[in-house]
Amino acid sequence: MSAPLRTQVAIIGAGPSGLLLGQLLHRAGIDNVILERQSAEHVLGRIRAGVLEQTTCELLDAAGVGARMHAEGLLHRGFELCFGGARHRIDLHGLTGGKQVMVYGQTEITRDLMAARVHAGLQTLYQAGEVVPHDYDTTLPRITYHHDGQARELRCDFIAGCDGYHGACRASAPAGALTVFERVFPFAWLGVLADTPPVSHELIYSKHERGFALCSMRSPTRTRYYVQCSPDDKVEQWSDAMFWDELRRRLDPATAATLATGPSIEKSIAALRCFVAEPMRLGRLFLAGDAAHIVPPTGAKGLNLAASDVHYLSRALIEHYAEHSDAGIDHYSARCLARIWKAERFSSWMTSLLHRFPDTGAIGERLQRAELDYLTGSHAAATALAENYVGLPFDA
Ligand code: FAD
Ligand code: PHB
Repeated sequence: MSAPLRTQVAIIGAGPSGLLLGQLLHRAGIDNVILERQSAEHVLGRIRAGVLEQTTCELLDAAGVGARMHAEGLLHRGFELCFGGARHRIDLHGLTGGKQVMVYGQTEITRDLMAARVHAGLQTLYQAGEVVPHDYDTTLPRITYHHDGQARELRCDFIAGCDGYHGACRASAPAGALTVFERVFPFAWLGVLADTPPVSHELIYSKHERGFALCSMRSPTRTRYYVQCSPDDKVEQWSDAMFWDELRRRLDPATAATLATGPSIEKSIAALRCFVAEPMRLGRLFLAGDAAHIVPPTGAKGLNLAASDVHYLSRALIEHYAEHSDAGIDHYSARCLARIWKAERFSSWMTSLLHRFPDTGAIGERLQRAELDYLTGSHAAATALAENYVGLPFDA
């Protein structure tokens, strides 16, 4: 084995959580190294989230990576609910005292953070294999891994587990140390990315008897669309033509008539689940982002929650090094979980409102319709939706 590396905070995973944490710590003078299983190109090839809350944008600004987002991102002051053959606008800006969301892809955030990391000369080891965290119940945690064909070790003060749902950190917890809560929905989303102009300048969330559909975008010339599908479906079963036909059927006739179609650039299927592992701190190991929790994407909260975890974790670690206080570290898990459970509630509610469930029958359909009518007819109900969609404040 080659001589061990040493850093203050060892971060596992170069997704948005790990990269953002690394950048915030670096700006506070805290040394960090990232170990990532995949190559940078592979990480950038994953098409995921698109909607950012204002607090997430502010955090990207604080990390010094907000410039391209402000130049190229699209500010949205509302979105539409489509049901019963018509579109109904939710005025986010008007209902929340002036808040809005930013449409800017996770891929672009990742690209900006990777560039900032290279510019700062920070160490990221891509294609690190067999990454295993050890001894985080002591003051001398370490990580073993393989890189460039060699077994290696990284010693550190703290480990940040930013390695997503299938990562090594949560899996390393001793039996009984974590309590896991999970609900898997009986459907999935088929997503398509295409170089076509968006069908509308705002997002459309559509409830249809054939199933849910979502019209989103990445830019004025690139669209991201989704249709609810079976969790057993395979991408290869869905030709582009089948996808466009199905999407058109699930929109109101006026919108369907103006839908521009074209070849897909990317197509993928994502399962829908609620998942939370508690607590998010085990000694000197912290879980952040998808490593600790998953929300169904209907509320657009996954990436935003990852950002709020990183906000709390970076503040806690900065407090530890700069002020010799562990108060932030001790409160990390509880602070994150308070916000996470509210986002789980909201995402779960929005998923139940808009999807076709195989087993709820006619009464389920009628209740969904009543709720949609209530939402679009009641200022109070629309305000509650808007307040959650734009994002609850940190520490709310
Ligand atoms: P990830 O992005 O998963 O990053 C974790 C990183 O850790 C990865 O790069 C991975 O390669 C690496 N890693 C894993 N295991 C190891 C290991 N053993 N060693 C080293 N590295 C490891 N959210 C929304 O808001 N809207 C959406 O539309 C949306 N769509 C999604 C679609 C899919 C298919 C998925 C999976 C998620 C989606 N999400 C969406 C959720 C959002 O993308 C995530 O919440 C966000 O990516 C979380 O970031 P993260 O950095 O915590 O985790
Ligand atoms: C996306 O653009 O990918 C997107 C937007 C809103 C969501 C989910 C995904 O709720």
